[in-house]
Amino acid sequence: MDLIVQFIKDEKQRLLHALKDADVPAVDDLLALHDQGWNRIIKHGDFGRWSEAFAALPQPEQTEASFSDVVCIEQVEGEPVDTQTIEVALRGLLPWRKGPFDIFGVYVDAEWRSDFKWQRVLPHISSLEGRKVLDIGCGSGYHLWRMLERGAALALGIDTSPLFAFHFAVVKRYTANTQAFYLPFGIADMPEAMASFDTVFSMGILYHRKNPLAHLLRIKSLLKSGGEVVLETLVVDGDAQTCLMPQGRYAKMKNVWFLPSVDMLTLWMQRLGFKDVRCVDVNVTSTQEQRVTDWMRFESLADYLDPDDASKTIEGHPAPKRAIMIAHI
Ligand SMILES: C[S@@+](CC[C@H](N)C(=O)[O-])C[C@H]1O[C@@H](n2cnc3c(N)ncnc32)[C@H](O)[C@@H]1O
Repeated sequence: MDLIVQFIKDEKQRLLHALKDADVPAVDDLLALHDQGWNRIIKHGDFGRWSEAFAALPQPEQTEASFSDVVCIEQVEGEPVDTQTIEVALRGLLPWRKGPFDIFGVYVDAEWRSDFKWQRVLPHISSLEGRKVLDIGCGSGYHLWRMLERGAALALGIDTSPLFAFHFAVVKRYTANTQAFYLPFGIADMPEAMASFDTVFSMGILYHRKNPLAHLLRIKSLLKSGGEVVLETLVVDGDAQTCLMPQGRYAKMKNVWFLPSVDMLTLWMQRLGFKDVRCVDVNVTSTQEQRVTDWMRFESLADYLDPDDASKTIEGHPAPKRAIMIAHI
């Protein structure tokens, strides 16, 4: 437990410097939220198991990181670390939902091939070189590492999941000097009207929000003038007046609220004052992208679809289809 507590303390210091260097406002609020978020995680019933797993990971003297399709931590020199120990430690942090990662030769084949989404997003966004970036609902932080790969000066991820905070910490432990940070709290807690990010990503979260327009306005308030939003969300086919609100579950998820058509989403964004709103990609989620693996053994997409008709969810809704929208303020 001590190792993660030390990590949290050190990370807070690094966050303080990074926020000041990047001229991000509300630094004190953000640091207080960072403390509160971690205090909540510490009280989680699985915290003991997770922190033991974290502590069981090796600490070789010299390591190297690479942030391509597989986010990879390697040992550079010294007595090779024991792969079996690493595998056991990483399995103490099951389930792994967003990846893939390679930690000292152990390949973590997460439920989602998050690299697929990144490949759909990347060709369409403005260069991230030198930019301050916020990723709302960042999951394990997989895309934060990819944002650093593309030259982001600061990549802040915000997410409410305590297990994802550990998945992020596994990589950050070996990349302490990088400018990626996990803020363990919800978007609603983010200080108001920060107007300081060059790019805000919101991927896989709008449909979880009860008030999607408020979420879009919140994104607007976080962006600098001229900044870019990259919004990825579930959509349905239809015209500018089409939106699906499932009666109950959608693909077995309880917390799905609004699935607009691309045209309705475009209208929402335009009416809220976003400029140059465009849809750059529409993709039906495949069972190559989201599936059961040895690192996530519960149900996955194949179990959420109608066994006789993969174009429908098990509840009879259209199967998951995702759009990527880009706009500016
Ligand atoms: C479907 S996942 C998407 C993860 C990643 N952005 C991606 O596209 O692969 C949604 C994420 O949003 C997070 N989340 C849910 N509600 C949130 C909130 N109010 N504020 C921040 N994150 C939230 C969840 O914990 C989860 O990691």
